[in-house]
Amino acid sequence: MAGNTAAPTGARWSSKAAFVLAATGSAVGLGNLWRFPTEAGSNGGGAFVLFYVLFVVLIAAPLLLAESLIGRHGQRSTIASAVYLARQSGASPAWSLLAVIGLIANTAILTFYCVVAGWVVYFIGTSAADVFGAVSSGTPLAGAYAGDSVAQIQQLMPALFADPVLLVGLQLAFVAVTTWIVARGVKGGIEVAATWLMPAFFFLLIGITVYAAITGDFAAAVAFLFTPDFERALQPGVLSSALGQAFFSLSLGGGAMIAYGAYASRDTNLGQTSGMIAFADTSVAIIAGLAIFPIVFSVGMEPNAGPTLMFQTLPAAFHSMPGGAIVGLLFFVLALFAALTSSVSLLEISVGWVTEKFGTSRVKASIWIGVLVFLVGVVSALSFNVWADHRPIPFIPGFENAGWFDAIDGVTGKLLLPLSGLVTAIFIGWVADRQLVNAETGLSGGGLKVWRFLIAWLCPLAVAAILIIGLFPQLL
Ligand code: PFF
Repeated sequence: MAGNTAAPTGARWSSKAAFVLAATGSAVGLGNLWRFPTEAGSNGGGAFVLFYVLFVVLIAAPLLLAESLIGRHGQRSTIASAVYLARQSGASPAWSLLAVIGLIANTAILTFYCVVAGWVVYFIGTSAADVFGAVSSGTPLAGAYAGDSVAQIQQLMPALFADPVLLVGLQLAFVAVTTWIVARGVKGGIEVAATWLMPAFFFLLIGITVYAAITGDFAAAVAFLFTPDFERALQPGVLSSALGQAFFSLSLGGGAMIAYGAYASRDTNLGQTSGMIAFADTSVAIIAGLAIFPIVFSVGMEPNAGPTLMFQTLPAAFHSMPGGAIVGLLFFVLALFAALTSSVSLLEISVGWVTEKFGTSRVKASIWIGVLVFLVGVVSALSFNVWADHRPIPFIPGFENAGWFDAIDGVTGKLLLPLSGLVTAIFIGWVADRQLVNAETGLSGGGLKVWRFLIAWLCPLAVAAILIIGLFPQLL
């Protein structure tokens, strides 16, 4: 490769399919299961979902291709890959700003991601105890939490929130496992989890959705998710939430797709794989929505219940399901793996950078960053109890009432990820060497033209507009 002087990593996924699976593993996670329903529910349903899907197709999928080609071309950590492409294009290395913003955003996302993953671990614990109870009382195929009412099941989350030590302990456990996998090197562990567990998870989720559709209020769920209320779309926050969700869910803006693209082989058609990853990820989000909202409406919950929505609805479905105790346990275990294949990609960005930049060993870099992520994450965990009344950023419009958890989630999702995406779109659409970029896409003819239009025009203009509207809602 001309001008490729600094040593590329040389690491490769073991097959083309492995790249797609690993990238899909990064994309599919708590963002689909937990954040999508939470955001859809809090932003009125249909209008949010419509814009989310539009943004995935028109903005996020083209950016996914842009990020993965930066990585595949550079074959280095995210910042170094961006610097490399800038240099080869005769442009300033300052364009690597896109990856610097991303690194900060992803490390910040990981801090609260581990808190939510801790909730999943909690439900693995309660489900396991439940299965144990069912088996020892000779009713292994009982529904989950057989002796309890739905109202009691819904108290599991508030009970967890009331116990800061448990909350932080579970978060610590998840940070530790993520750190351990990244310390050992992402490739091996991730490939196995992504190849076997993700497909298993997908089929289980479809089964749960069918069950929820039959027993819950499916019609109300479909009406809620797919009937857009355009008045609602113009309310402050809906557009920026939908864009933020598209970025978050596809692991964009933080550099994860640059990092994973770096391990993709030269004969991987990135145009094709980007489409596949975006399609798979969006399908999982919609399917998760169709599993959760029928239960929301049948048990009489408010769709805007916030971050606990998933954890207060699915256990209620497992409750009425024959064999629900076991299905519930299986679901949360697989959800944990889905979370791990994402959290690992979040941590990998900063670990990859530190090892490359400072020559630190992978193990040391993982541990130090893992400790930092844990400590910052404690702030988010405590915002559900002891620090519930902290309002850290009341001066940013839209965040007046946000506690620590919502503030870190909101600032990263609604501001930092789109900002990094904006710089990426301008860099790839206008600055980077055209021939070089085109050759990396694997696209040709009309496909290439459409993509170039989206990345050079639509992505920057739309993302800039939504960022501005998000910050100055009075403009709308
Ligand atoms: N896409 C992941 C999810 O939906 O759970 C979260 C995530 C992973 C965001 C990696 C950003 C990232 F770089």
